[in-house]
Parts: sequence; C-alpha cells; structure tokens
Amino acid sequence: MTPSKRESKIHISHHAGEGGPFARLAEDVRKGLTKTPRELPPKYFYDARGAELFEQICELPEYYPTRTERALLEQIADDVVTSFRPTTLVEFGSGSSRKTRILLDAMTRARHLDLYVPIDVSEDMLRQTAYALGEDYAGLRVHGVIGDFEKPVELLPGGGCRLIVFLGGTIGNLTADDATRFLRNVARLLSPGDRFLLGTDLVKDVGLLERAYNDAAGVTAAFNRNILSVINRNLSANFDPNRFEHLAFYNREESRIEMHLVARESHQVSIDAIDLTVDFAKGESIRTEISCKYTRAMVEKMFAEAGLRLLRWDTDQDHLFALSLSDAVH
Ligand code: AVJ
Repeated sequence: MTPSKRESKIHISHHAGEGGPFARLAEDVRKGLTKTPRELPPKYFYDARGAELFEQICELPEYYPTRTERALLEQIADDVVTSFRPTTLVEFGSGSSRKTRILLDAMTRARHLDLYVPIDVSEDMLRQTAYALGEDYAGLRVHGVIGDFEKPVELLPGGGCRLIVFLGGTIGNLTADDATRFLRNVARLLSPGDRFLLGTDLVKDVGLLERAYNDAAGVTAAFNRNILSVINRNLSANFDPNRFEHLAFYNREESRIEMHLVARESHQVSIDAIDLTVDFAKGESIRTEISCKYTRAMVEKMFAEAGLRLLRWDTDQDHLFALSLSDAVH
C-alpha cells in the first residue's frame, strides 16, 4: 500500500480540549506531593520507557493477568463477536493492542470489522500500533485518541454497532467512586445493541498477588521508579530514583495492591518547573498506584450502580482473572 493510502485510514487526535495526558502533570504533581500521604497518578508511568517496561512486566512469570486474560479472550472472542456483530471496536487503555488483535481477528472472521478506536495515554505506543494494525488489517480504519481514559469521550457516529473494551484489569487503578463514574460514562456511550467487555483481576491468594508486583527480576521496581524520571524530565526535577525503594503489598481492607516508593533516607527534592521543594523523611512514601482486585459480586454491584447489565461472565479455571460482557440498561 502507498503511504498516502495508508495514512488516509489512520487518524490520531488528542482528547478534545486537552493538550494530551501530560498537560496536567504539573498540577497533578503539585497536588499529589503536597498532600499527606503523598501520591502520584499511575497514568504518568507510561512514557516510552514506562510503556516498554510494562510490556516486559506482561511477560514475567509472576505476572499472570496478561496471559490469563489473553487465553480467556481466545476462548470467547468468536462467541462474543457473533452474538451481536459489532463493526467498531473501541478500546480504553489500548497499550500495545496485542490482545486486541484477538478481537480484531474474530471480527474479521465474522466479516464485520470496520473501525478501531484505541484510546491511550502513551502517544508513541498509540501511533506505533495504529500504523501496525492499519498494515495488518486490510480495510480497517483506525482513529486513535491520545488521552486519559477517565476523560469522557464522544464517539464518532459509526454505522453498525460497537464493542467497547477495557482490558488488562486497568479499571483497578481507579477508586470505587472513580470506577463507577467511568462505568457510567461507558453506559452513556452504549447505544442499544452495543456491548462492553471489561477485564478485571480477581481477589485471590495474597502470596500470588504480591509476587505479581514484586517480580524477582526487578522489572516492576524499575517501572515504579520510572515515574520519578518522567517527573525529572518534564518538570525539571532532581529526584534520585535510587533513593527510593519499591514497595508493593496487598491491602486487604481495600481489596487492592498498592505500590509505593519509599525514601531510603531523609532528603530534599526540587521540582523547578513548579517551584516546589519536597522534604522526604526516611521511610516516607509516595503511593504511585492502586490496583483493585474484585469478586463477581463487586463487579455486579459496580455495574448495577453504573446502569450496566451483566450478560456473561468468564473466568479461567483458577479464577485468577475475569471478563464481563455487559450492555446498558436504557
Ligand atoms: C496496567 C494497571 C493493569 O495494575 O496490574 C503492573 C499495572 N503495575 N505491575 C496492574 C501494573 C505494576 C497494571 N495495570
């Protein structure tokens, strides 16, 4: 295919009214680092290096979610796609779109594939995968949106119906209130006949959970510390990542993994672009991520609150991970 022909199928845009996911970095960092306890939003992990580290995490022996979800998708994709014949696939937090291909393949087999709308904070990854998919799927139009999945999107009116997906268990990054708000927004986007497929990591043995976020090779620790390099580069800060220890543990009361960066010694950090100095005491931590784990009952409750109706629930035999198909209660 000629480049011009290829480009005509691919469109990339920023979220309307926003300069992309890093536009709010300064504000989020100021807010997060001046409150107690300190925290940073996990979306800032994903610069080019962070996205690459996350890809490595997905291949780790300890990190079961990716391969478990992939196997589940392979099992149910044809069934799901033939049950309502979607022509458009919309994906929140699309990342490398690797698992997406399973759905695109099923839509191709059903001869209904027309448009793919990936939405992701990682601009490099979005561009790369949009063009790769445009190459690999003849006739597929790709409209990528660079942005944060929490910002409401307006979808282009496409012919036929849509499958909206949010995979990987990324909804777990949201607090219960934010997750319900996100799901309400999804319900609002669903026309009659559209469906929503959600991946959720499940509550399980604590040892298994904690090992998935404390891998022996130290990739998760590097991923965690990378958020400090992102701040250094974008906000002229002088974080020394080596002065922070990676900490990840399961919080039973909150049903979530928490990742923190813990100061190894007391020291001061300057963030020049926002005129902020932060004093860290030894042992003081920044919470960089929550990753909520669910039961079926928890998912059903969230869906009910959001106006979604569960149509099917699939899980692997070890109940590590689940896929939920739903539609909107109109
Ligand atoms: C991409 C949010 C699903 O919470 O498991 C992996 C991110 N953090 N290892 C997760 C992550 C540490 C991941 N999500």
